[in-house]
Amino acid sequence: MLIYWTPAFYDTRLKFLVMARSAATVDLRSEPASRAQSAAFYALKNLGRGDVVVLLTAAEPSLMMQSLDLQLRHNLAWQISMVEQGWRVEVRHRADAAPQDVLDLLTRDHKRLDALLEQAMRLVNRGDISAAAAPLREFAAALERHVGVEDEILSPALGALHPGGDAPSAIMQREHNEILGQLAVVRECLAAESPQAAEIGAFCAILSGTLAKHEYREENNLFPQWQAAWTHKPQAEREAMMKRVEAVLGEGVNNPLSDPPPCAGGRI
Ligand SMILES: [Fe+2]
Ligand SMILES: [Fe+2]
Repeated sequence: MLIYWTPAFYDTRLKFLVMARSAATVDLRSEPASRAQSAAFYALKNLGRGDVVVLLTAAEPSLMMQSLDLQLRHNLAWQISMVEQGWRVEVRHRADAAPQDVLDLLTRDHKRLDALLEQAMRLVNRGDISAAAAPLREFAAALERHVGVEDEILSPALGALHPGGDAPSAIMQREHNEILGQLAVVRECLAAESPQAAEIGAFCAILSGTLAKHEYREENNLFPQWQAAWTHKPQAEREAMMKRVEAVLGEGVNNPLSDPPPCAGGRI
């Protein structure tokens, strides 16, 4: 296995996000196929922002990368190219790469929503309602924008081919109603004359659990369907939709609140 350090390359669009800390090359071409994926997993599991890992593989690596991305909670971004005697995959933390499509934007926005709610809940749990109010309001507004994008822009444009009671798109809409109902209760508690930290904390915890399950179902059941529909759209339509979604979700979707933990470190 060969590891060396190289200067990292970032295109102009990414410069504002992060500067590279390191790049390592991991040559898996002599590994048996059965071991290549687990070796790649260990090479990537602690990938953080600013890191670049280059994998060299003997077999075409698309399926392996999709599987690793799933294992590492959709935190990977990669580019594949052919090289002598195999393939080269340049891997970064997803937060360092430009969004690839609207599904990528939504997945990033999930992480941003989770981070905002977590920040607010930490303050609520300390009993500091006045400090928690701003992130909680920001979270509420961001969540409503996110639901609006899914219901009003993407669902009509990318809707499932065979919608029905148990179709992922129908489940999404039912869960959105539930989430917005729970959010309204949190808002009501926050607007009370004497807001109670224990009460707000309890309702935030319920909302956090509902949202986590909802995001997981979307990312694993609905978004793959939307992805298939997205790839069949003409380029001009994809570009227009991308701009519209970016505009609604706002700047924050490309500017995480803080450095995310390494890939295997949980949702960010
Ligand atoms: Fe949703
Ligand atoms: Fe979503």
